[in-house]
Amino acid sequence: MATRFSHWQCGRDYQLIDGGDGASTLFVSGNHRLLRVSDAMAARLREGPDRLTPDEAAEWNLLAEQGYISDVNLESVQRASFTDGSNLAINVNLTATCNLGCSYCFADGGDYGRIKGKLDADVEDDIFDFVADRTQRGQIVRFEFFGGEPLLNFARIASMCARAEEIEQRLGIRFLFRISSNLTILPPGCLELFARHRFIVSVSIDGGRETHDRNRPTKGGRGSWDKIMANCMAVRAASDAILLVARMTVVGGPVGLSENVRQLWALNIFDYFQIYPGVVPREASHVFGDEAASDGGTMARGFLAEFADFVDEYAALFTPENRFRGVLEYERIVDMVEKGKAALSFCSGGRNYFTFSPDRSVMPCHRLVGDTDAQLGVSGSPVAQDARLEPWRLPIDRNPTCSQCWIRYICAGGCRQENQQATGDINTPSAEGCHYQIRLVEKVVGMMAAQSRAYREQDRIELDDMFVSCGRPMTVNLRRDPDLPELAHFDRI
Ligand SMILES: C[S@@+](CC[C@H](N)C(=O)[O-])C[C@H]1O[C@@H](n2cnc3c(N)ncnc32)[C@H](O)[C@@H]1O
Ligand code: SF4
Ligand code: SF4
Repeated sequence: MATRFSHWQCGRDYQLIDGGDGASTLFVSGNHRLLRVSDAMAARLREGPDRLTPDEAAEWNLLAEQGYISDVNLESVQRASFTDGSNLAINVNLTATCNLGCSYCFADGGDYGRIKGKLDADVEDDIFDFVADRTQRGQIVRFEFFGGEPLLNFARIASMCARAEEIEQRLGIRFLFRISSNLTILPPGCLELFARHRFIVSVSIDGGRETHDRNRPTKGGRGSWDKIMANCMAVRAASDAILLVARMTVVGGPVGLSENVRQLWALNIFDYFQIYPGVVPREASHVFGDEAASDGGTMARGFLAEFADFVDEYAALFTPENRFRGVLEYERIVDMVEKGKAALSFCSGGRNYFTFSPDRSVMPCHRLVGDTDAQLGVSGSPVAQDARLEPWRLPIDRNPTCSQCWIRYICAGGCRQENQQATGDINTPSAEGCHYQIRLVEKVVGMMAAQSRAYREQDRIELDDMFVSCGRPMTVNLRRDPDLPELAHFDRI
């Protein structure tokens, strides 16, 4: 019996994820539905729906006719405009200075190779003018305080928060504040400010003392762990309204990822984690010595295997005693699958996300600060709306590499800076980068399929305020949820 729904542009627009228990999870790329199927049927589906037995094909056709299998992701992405799916976000690059000398720093220790000094009052004015031009009552704007080490320009942060508060009251625009900090210092008034404005404090901490001190020493070569720990504790004690995120960069070393997460988790002070592979230019991979980036790539060797093992243990970290609410990237994928959301782009860069720096440059990505080719303009003057932005807004189904990929409505093209670093083109991902993104989705979907309904249906609305994956814009795909009879070959997850 022939199956309907064979018009998908990729021929086989789904993936089968082995559950290891005699059953597999069928992931439908077109609408992010999950179905449980037997391994035997999974083997047939891997060859194509036309290999299904007549009974199986009849059920497949019913699912397609009723819209349970569909390609609404494509339609919803095509309907969206480039400003949909994310709020205006301003990365405020507060200073070129930093007191640490992290082994992998893409900011070259804070100055991105060319930035000098601190962000001054003039650029602050420019930022507020920029915001005023682009927002109206009821909208949300987020400030991402960044650097260098942003707390070395605390006065500017305090000034911007006070100004935002006044605008919030006067004009009804809501502001969200997040800081990415090494948290080696806590200037006077800092804790009160974090609490008053319900900050998301993303502290860069790579694991337990051994790993952290190895990766993130002071400029003088001493460990930074003790100071950071004391400050994390102080932030935690200051207010439960502060969301504390442990932002880990993984570059390998004697202590594995799972152990490093465990050590931080055991402190019971972090609400969320973020786990990123350290990314370095090919020519600079020697900085990791014998942990050099994997052959021909930019990712630390061993990361892929370590992260896959970690996801296998992930569910055990959710306990009633621990405040842990998840790894942001993983929870975002669960949310997209569970709620039927499609990504419009990997991040908000070139759309609703702009980085302002002390040199007055306005950039589409905070990691590209210093790259004059990518610059959109100068603060205080109109920002480019021209051909420079087109590559950033390339629809995923028109990207020659990604349009054939089964996770394209989750990944949506990979990190532009990582692509640029690896291939010289923001829209051409590296094989290694894709391998990681695909493994990530495979592992997280496999994990969620094995969890309880209670886990899958958890409220994840908070993630919308967390700027996960640089504010990945997304849209609800409005997939149908038909009443279906009991099926013999497909279990809905
Ligand atoms: C550039 S720092 C700026 C803010 C602050 N100084 C800090 O360390 O949090 C922001 C984040 O980028 C991460 N980072 C720096 N270089 C990286 C690289 N090559 N690959 C992945 N993450 C990197 C840092 O670990 C940190 O979490
Ligand atoms: S603390 Fe941040 S800016 Fe400073 S060297 Fe480390 S990663 Fe770079
Ligand atoms: S970047 Fe790679 S993994 Fe992501 S959608 Fe494109 S092809 Fe797929």
